[in-house]
Amino acid sequence: MSVAVGIHDLSVATAAHVLDLDLLAAYQGVDPAKYHIGLGQDRMSVPGPDEDIVTMAAAAAQPIVERVGAENIRTLYLATESGVDQSKSAAVWVHRLLGLPASCRVVELKQACYAATAALQAALAQVARSPQDEVLVIGADIARYDLDSAAEATQGAGAVAMLVRADPGLVTIEPASGVFTAEVDDFWRPNGSSTAVVDGKLSVSAYLDAIVGAWDDYRARGGVDYDRIDRWCHHQPFTKMAVKAHRALAAHVGAEPDESQITASTGYNRQLGNSYTASLYLALAALLDEDDDLDGARIGFFSYGSGSVGELFAGVVSPGYRTLRRAEATRAALSARRPLSVAEYRELHANVHADDDGDRTVAPVSRGPFRFTGVEGRARRYTRA
Ligand code: COA
Repeated sequence: MSVAVGIHDLSVATAAHVLDLDLLAAYQGVDPAKYHIGLGQDRMSVPGPDEDIVTMAAAAAQPIVERVGAENIRTLYLATESGVDQSKSAAVWVHRLLGLPASCRVVELKQACYAATAALQAALAQVARSPQDEVLVIGADIARYDLDSAAEATQGAGAVAMLVRADPGLVTIEPASGVFTAEVDDFWRPNGSSTAVVDGKLSVSAYLDAIVGAWDDYRARGGVDYDRIDRWCHHQPFTKMAVKAHRALAAHVGAEPDESQITASTGYNRQLGNSYTASLYLALAALLDEDDDLDGARIGFFSYGSGSVGELFAGVVSPGYRTLRRAEATRAALSARRPLSVAEYRELHANVHADDDGDRTVAPVSRGPFRFTGVEGRARRYTRA
């Protein structure tokens, strides 16, 4: 007998600071409506020097471990494109900070913004085979582009942790899945660079090619009709991208796009900015937190990672999901961010260097539960705050 597997818990973390895009628009001499309406973004999270993907990933996962315990967590997947080492998985530091058992498989995955979905699929397969296992899947990223570039307003930082298990309390993920891969130079981050190289227009068209290709594969592999999907969560590098994706897919299947199916999913991304691997699952958190009427609803998910890989799948919301969601904590994390001036933001941005691995001590700045304390013998050091 097949067992229901899916997402049982979902928890969000972000960085210590926030930049209001009105301030950035004024500094750049750009109409703020371009950001609020054209891109669908209001603010972006900005990390302090003592934060990175390890601290955000651990901060996102800690409430889950506190709620369910660590004993059954057999695998920890950390998906990121903001890796802090070329060899050691960032997940190993997270494993220690969370106090997970030694009998736990730990690895980091990379394929731009897509990798958390690969991790989720691997987790689902593991739990389907061994239903007593629990798997922690974390997407954590810092979206950084060059100062004064067209992409600057689409930065951000955040992490989403998910517990995958049998009989999930939030969303049962259905087996059908559609995938699409095409090699394309729309976005990448060369070794030694702390900012991504992006051909923004190409990334938008590559994303739209991927959703259509993944949909066709999803249907060919037994996925449900378009009209049996009640809500959608799309990867959101900026929330207007979800609108573009929604319209493109509706046009492809010959349906009228219903934008009320995506509105609730954009609430957190609009405030936090791009969080790459975490962005799709931040959309899910926003939808579950905002919508009280999702019992039994089917959600369509589209995951995109530049370079490029897309995957489309669906899940059904568990009755009673309201008792497990964490809206209050997510809203508190967003409102705890310290607002930056443009000058402060630019200084923080200018002080990040990808090849900065020399020994140093980093003073505490953020108020999160975990901190990056510096580099000793060229090895990164982390601690509980
Ligand atoms: N009021 C309302 N809307 C406005 C406006 C104004 N005053 N000024 C511009 N806009 C709209 C534009 O019409 C456009 O909307 P559309 O895409 O629906 O046509 C939108 O704002 C963006 O304007 P555009 O001139 O295309 O922006 P840009 O060239 O400066 O850059 C990106 C936009 C997304 C390409 C850029 O931010 C980027 O490269 N981001 C990173 C890459 C990324 O996120 N890719 C997504 C796929 S992974």
